[in-house]
Amino acid sequence: MIRSVVRGTGSFLPERVLSNDEMAKLVDTSDEWIVQRTGIERRHIAADGETTSDLATEAARRALQDADLDIADIDMIVLATSTPDNTFPATAVAVQNRLGMHHGAAYDLQAVCSGFVFALSNADAQIRCNHAKRILVIGAETFSRILDWTDRTTCVLFGDGAGSVVLEAADVDDTNGRGIITSHLRSDGAHKSKLYVDGGPSTTQTVGHLRMEGREVFKHAVGMVTDVVEDAFDAAGIDADDVDWFVPHQANKRIIDASAKKLGIAADKVVLTVQDHGNTSAASIPLALDVACRDGRIKQNDLVLLEAMGGGFTWGSVLVRW
Ligand code: ACO
Repeated sequence: MIRSVVRGTGSFLPERVLSNDEMAKLVDTSDEWIVQRTGIERRHIAADGETTSDLATEAARRALQDADLDIADIDMIVLATSTPDNTFPATAVAVQNRLGMHHGAAYDLQAVCSGFVFALSNADAQIRCNHAKRILVIGAETFSRILDWTDRTTCVLFGDGAGSVVLEAADVDDTNGRGIITSHLRSDGAHKSKLYVDGGPSTTQTVGHLRMEGREVFKHAVGMVTDVVEDAFDAAGIDADDVDWFVPHQANKRIIDASAKKLGIAADKVVLTVQDHGNTSAASIPLALDVACRDGRIKQNDLVLLEAMGGGFTWGSVLVRW
């Protein structure tokens, strides 16, 4: 049986850190409100001229280094983003070119905050169909570019960054062996207007700004992510006690805590980075994975559960034996 094994991780954050106190100078908010409602303490913001592909390229380089591989070893790049450098071509081809890769294929995938989970599932299918042996899967965003910096209900929540993993095909004879075990993707466009960007090439010919009915998103989030995690548990024949690390999309600590509680996952198994990164959309899970791998929490053979929910709505889960 062919499985997609994670061979390395990498991440990159812009140098500039914006604290909640600094945010309170821009809009009518406070450190206390932001921490209490979201768990966010600070976020990184891309410098003028620093693009999504800049962040993605550096995260990919670090993942390749961690995997002890060269770009020549990679045959595909799948990049999740909602903040591409340009409307086209795909940000993935800019990364491909910057890495000196002129073979294989590179493409973007867009599922907002669920983007990395969708990209991982998609890359896993490519590997299991024997279309690729090694894939760079990247989540990269510059959400600071699409925020309305006068809207306190949204601008305090998001940050910029990128994370990447290298997936590699491996022949595994044990269903409990290493690699992606199962993934579950969902979407429902009926919720489109609850979290969207009010611009685009085909509608306004502008980039637009992020708009969100925060309370509505919150209301659906916990139920949706726990449903899709339970689908993963059923497919793998496991339960919450078997999970070593829970790495959710980092949107809001209250959503993460409530989801872990409903699923019965102990708090000390939850990887939390939202306090340092804010919501980096498709980048949040690979950023958190890289933090937890590098600090020694996630180790080979650990059972790692990923989940995300975002604009669309989209939502999904991936279960992987590290
Ligand atoms: N600072 C101070 N006060 C604020 C701020 C702020 N930054 N933002 C809103 N408020 C005020 C509101 O105006 C409101 O005041 P009022 O009662 O006088 O009207 C009050 O705080 C409460 O507002 P609520 O919206 O009810 O606050 P809530 O507890 O729901 O928290 C939040 C808001 C944090 C946005 C929450 O709803 C949330 O996290 N929702 C989910 C958001 C999310 O996860 N989005 C990402 C999805 S992923 C993706 O695809 C991008």
